[in-house]
Amino acid sequence: MISDKMAAAINTQVNREMYSAYLYLAMSAYSESIDLPGFANWFRIQYQEEMVHAFGLYDYLISRDYTPVLLAIEQPPKAFGTPLEIFKAALEHEKKVTAWINELVTMAVAEQDYAAQSFLQWYVKEQVEEEATAKLIIQELKMAGNDGSTLFMINRELGARVFTAPVVGQ
Ligand code: FEO
Repeated sequence: MISDKMAAAINTQVNREMYSAYLYLAMSAYSESIDLPGFANWFRIQYQEEMVHAFGLYDYLISRDYTPVLLAIEQPPKAFGTPLEIFKAALEHEKKVTAWINELVTMAVAEQDYAAQSFLQWYVKEQVEEEATAKLIIQELKMAGNDGSTLFMINRELGARVFTAPVVGQ
């Protein structure tokens, strides 16, 4: 049995993951507007990943006999600055998500909800990866500086990303 408090907190995280998806889609649209289709591709795939994260939580609530409540999704910003600034904003967002996931785990521990603790471990690990990936791209962009040809290469590299749906829990 999941407590109402735990279920409501996970329900809020569904919304936050959907906002994350929306934010990355906005970053994708913005990248198109500054002629970086590779960046746009990378962020569009990130949008898809975030929807998988959201549905993982949504399905968990259903499996615990709780009906998810769909909350309003906040409007993301429209512009994100330079290519480096876009990824810095992405990393800052991921750090926030990590803090929210950690709060959920803290709540699950306090409530002795072992099922939620076990389920949330996948998200804990996923956040380590999410932050590491953003940091790596930030390093590449810092090294590129104002060198157009290096930026071109990074754009091509980000354009090669393909969507492989993560399986929540595995
Ligand atoms: Fe679902 Fe990027 O955190």
